[in-house]
Amino acid sequence: MKTHAISDAIRCIPVDIRTADLFEGIWPIPKGFSLNTYVVKGEKTALIDLVQDQPEAISQMEKTLAPEFGTVDYLILNHLEPDHTGWLREFLRKNPQAQIISTAKGIKLVKSFYKIDKIDSALRAVKDGETLDLGGGKVLTFFETPNIHWPETMVTWEASSGTLFSCDAFGSFGALGGRLFDDEFNKAEHEEFERETLRYYANIVSSFSIFVERGIQKLSNLAVSCVAPSHGMVWRTNAKTIIDRYLRYASYSKGAAEREIAVIWGSMYGNTQKGLDAVRKGIESQGVPTTIHQVPNDNISYILTAAFKSAGLVLAMPTYEYAMFPPMAYALDIFRRKHLYHKTVLRIGSWGWVGGAQKEYEAAIGDLKWKSLEPYEWSGAPSDQDAAILEERGKELARAVRA
Ligand SMILES: Cc1cc2nc3c(=O)[nH]c(=O)nc-3n(C[C@H](O)[C@H](O)[C@H](O)COP(=O)(O)O)c2cc1C
Ligand SMILES: [Fe+2]
Ligand SMILES: [Fe+2]
Repeated sequence: MKTHAISDAIRCIPVDIRTADLFEGIWPIPKGFSLNTYVVKGEKTALIDLVQDQPEAISQMEKTLAPEFGTVDYLILNHLEPDHTGWLREFLRKNPQAQIISTAKGIKLVKSFYKIDKIDSALRAVKDGETLDLGGGKVLTFFETPNIHWPETMVTWEASSGTLFSCDAFGSFGALGGRLFDDEFNKAEHEEFERETLRYYANIVSSFSIFVERGIQKLSNLAVSCVAPSHGMVWRTNAKTIIDRYLRYASYSKGAAEREIAVIWGSMYGNTQKGLDAVRKGIESQGVPTTIHQVPNDNISYILTAAFKSAGLVLAMPTYEYAMFPPMAYALDIFRRKHLYHKTVLRIGSWGWVGGAQKEYEAAIGDLKWKSLEPYEWSGAPSDQDAAILEERGKELARAVRA
């Protein structure tokens, strides 16, 4: 497998995973994803982040690591999630002399996740700002960046090349297909990656936006010329692009989302859908862009992404057994878990005899800090009068989002 030079001393081994259906067992990855590991060579050799215990990854690492780089003296674990550590046991069998370096919290997780006999003497916890001298002028510095993505997370910095090994931070879904660097992808490919970066952020990182901001602030005096994450492309030409993109996404969690409306709807017999048509007409009349997703037909990964990026939401669903249409309840539960705060929201829906969806809905959105427009519910099919009101609500929402 091809490895890629970042500097005279640093190479990346990007492993594409295309056979897995779901990332973290939840999120679809039709375009695959990459697990990037990095080798830094001074007089000693360090390997930064491992791969998952997954056949495609293991076979590529076995073909590449030892044949090209020999034995490893230091294994740096920026983050203990098994997508970057699953191969640890096998790696140690092949590199029994390697010292494992992580934060104190990371070292605890090495023990609890891997239960490897007599591992203690191989473990070294590093503090925030601590360095590791590899000789030959190559020094690694470790900075704690908690909760990007787990509490134990750190990043690794190599000053002579200006390379930041950021693990999950600045990562993306999408396999790389033999290329690695931002300047090796064309405009259309970048647009595709940007969509997959946003989806990765919304799905994996959005709950931790405040820590993303803190982490970026903390690292802001480093002269970063290359951002080398462990998922997705390496940014050696336009490092600022991906840092700014992450800052923008983090701001979505604070109410600075795009002036767009995500329309999310579910309907059993079409009555809610008919009412929604009127709302959409109202929105369209104001020229605010929309995305539309149906529950449960569309995957929650894409629904979450659209809702995360949009300042406005329409949530349309009927009453079902005195409560919300269940797939919408699931979507709202995910929104709550992923901290989709500060949205401007219109909720509508049809009911048959007494309703009940609105009551459960209000309880479900309790701590989301949403600005709710007056909701609208109607019995059975929407009348012309209902439709006129719904169209007006659509306009109102669009104006609020555009303002
Ligand atoms: C399984 C099921 C459960 C329902 N539960 C309630 C209910 O508890 N309260 C109510 O007022 N209507 C209930 N209804 C009636 C629907 O809310 C009503 O038919 C509504 O118009 C459906 O909107 P839709 O066409 O968008 O699916 C229920 C309907 C179904 C099929
Ligand atoms: Fe992670
Ligand atoms: Fe990861």
